[in-house]
Amino acid sequence: MARILVTGAAGFIGSHTADLLLQEGNEVWGIDNLRTGRMSNLSAASQSPRFHFVRADVAKEKPCDELMEKAKPAAVIHLAALVSVPESFEQPDENFRLNLTATHVIAEAAHRHGVKRIVFASSAAVYGRAESFPLDERGITIPVSPYGAAKLASESLLAGYAESFGLTVRSCRYFNVFGPRQDPSSPYSGVISRFWEKLGQGSQPTVFGDGEQTRDFIYVGDVARANLLAATMPEVHSGVANICTGRPTSINNLVQTMARLLGREVNPIHVAPRQGDIRHSLGSPQAAQALLGFSASTSLADGLQALFLRRDADQHG
Ligand code: UD1
Repeated sequence: MARILVTGAAGFIGSHTADLLLQEGNEVWGIDNLRTGRMSNLSAASQSPRFHFVRADVAKEKPCDELMEKAKPAAVIHLAALVSVPESFEQPDENFRLNLTATHVIAEAAHRHGVKRIVFASSAAVYGRAESFPLDERGITIPVSPYGAAKLASESLLAGYAESFGLTVRSCRYFNVFGPRQDPSSPYSGVISRFWEKLGQGSQPTVFGDGEQTRDFIYVGDVARANLLAATMPEVHSGVANICTGRPTSINNLVQTMARLLGREVNPIHVAPRQGDIRHSLGSPQAAQALLGFSASTSLADGLQALFLRRDADQHG
């Protein structure tokens, strides 16, 4: 059993991570300002006597300091963030505050309170417009958004803390994460949550362009497991790892898989390609295997099935 602090605990990935940590017998301290996170995501976690929650802003020093003092965690999993790439263009100051200042506040508080390990939620967005696939952690990183830039800067800041103060820092570059509790409400929400919402409303999904663009979709339960391993594995190596499957799926293929699982025909509406879209994104999963002993185990179909069952569970109480 370990005591783990999860920032952004009420978010999509944060709440699944908290659930898994609790399931494995750990004590979890969650912090979230509920800007995009929701308490309803924590309904299972809140049942546990080993779960504690504080509503506060991670970019503010005082609440983080007080929380580290109280919780004395063995590790921090830092997931709190401004999560939307388009929003990072619209609100660059908030992007800087929530995606970089917050990392500094967490690193400092961890250092002051003798916390030995930080797991950081980075993103495939640090690669920007890379052209050679699969994307490898040693490859070039030229972010093309304020979001990607802040994530890359946070990785560097934390790597500096690891070297300077002997902390173990694992930066996890998540690829296209999907699963229950992902918010479909913005036009920029993840494609699977958008398609699932449309299909639930009895409408057809919209495919941008020819649908032959590909992504590396990873199920949120696998991402939670990667976070757990990064936070609790006894090895002390710091490093950066893609959290991906290494398998490409085209958007057309995604539509077909959803149709097959639902047992009905899906006829997507094709519109013009989305401006700024990248054609392909595919990660190499090898570093995650070497650093964390992690490999994704949920297929796209199984992950979609879990998402569909959750909708049924929600609808039927
Ligand atoms: C992700 C980010 C995005 C960022 C980009 C940078 C998410 C949810 N989005 O986009 O903000 O700019 O990385 O690399 O993490 N699609 C459709 N129909 C839809 C929605 C999407 O066809 O209704 C297509 C898109 O054109 C795209 C693919 O699905 O080709 C995946 O889209 P999305 O889920 O937004 O992820 P990314 O494009 O990887």
